[in-house]
Amino acid sequence: MADAYDSESYGETRGGSTPLASTFLIGPSRSHLSIVFDRQKTAISPVPSNDKGPRVQAMFAGIARRYDLANHLLSGGLDFLWRRRAAMLARQWKPERILDLATGSGDLALTLAAACPGSTIIGADFCLPMLQVSQRKGLRNLVVADGLALPFEDQAFDLLTVAFGLRNMASWTGALQEMHRVLKPGGHLLILDFSVPPAPLRWIYRPYLHFVLPRVAAFVTGEKAAYDYLADSIETFPHGAAMCALLKETGFDAAQWKPLTGGIVSLYVAERSIRAASQA
Ligand SMILES: C[S@@+](CC[C@H](N)C(=O)[O-])C[C@H]1O[C@@H](n2cnc3c(N)ncnc32)[C@H](O)[C@@H]1O
Repeated sequence: MADAYDSESYGETRGGSTPLASTFLIGPSRSHLSIVFDRQKTAISPVPSNDKGPRVQAMFAGIARRYDLANHLLSGGLDFLWRRRAAMLARQWKPERILDLATGSGDLALTLAAACPGSTIIGADFCLPMLQVSQRKGLRNLVVADGLALPFEDQAFDLLTVAFGLRNMASWTGALQEMHRVLKPGGHLLILDFSVPPAPLRWIYRPYLHFVLPRVAAFVTGEKAAYDYLADSIETFPHGAAMCALLKETGFDAAQWKPLTGGIVSLYVAERSIRAASQA
């Protein structure tokens, strides 16, 4: 049954095909990745019945080449600061193994690599053209994978990061459950995503988001629809206390949030409980 937090309804069927979930993008660290690969788990992971996944995949494939330029331009360069803030938080946990989910063109993974030089970072995304951009920027451990059916063993990572990605997934609940599954007990989840700022900033931000941004983005990328979608997806994505409640509902502990740049973006952290794992 679909729940209130699913972005669209969620199918009953739990089998079905997971066309991209177990496909590697070429990378020198194949042998390393295979340590956490678990194809059987992938085969029984939930697959959403709606078509949001393929639509989002096609949309990012269409803007992949100009995604970074549009990002930096439309955020006035603030996106560098947001990712840096996330990476500085991650650094204090000293994670050995990090999964950067929805890694896209790889900016967060690269910022994490600079902030956490001892960590192994794997970037996963279901859009191959976006991963190819990140590969050209120097990222090595890349996997084509759907966040709703991650091809990794349980408890494989110390930290899972997802920047501007969860909002785009067909089931927020399903994706968070997958994230919880692949995190080690005591491991951290870090989410960075857009939120709607409070008034008075909201009064300026909404016209910018709905009217200015799609037009500028259309000029840069040639894809206005993708940025109309961006504005709508930000409006419907839970933020602040609502996101913390969703994190709690999907099994995470100690959920906290910090609004950045007046609340245009929010940073969430949560933990996979050690307690629950030892009781299981
Ligand atoms: C807005 S981009 C964010 C990229 C990068 N994290 C950043 O900070 O710039 C969103 C990314 O999420 C990916 N994505 C959306 N839904 C996904 C899913 N179900 N599984 C894996 N990746 C997904 C898209 O392909 C896209 O590359």
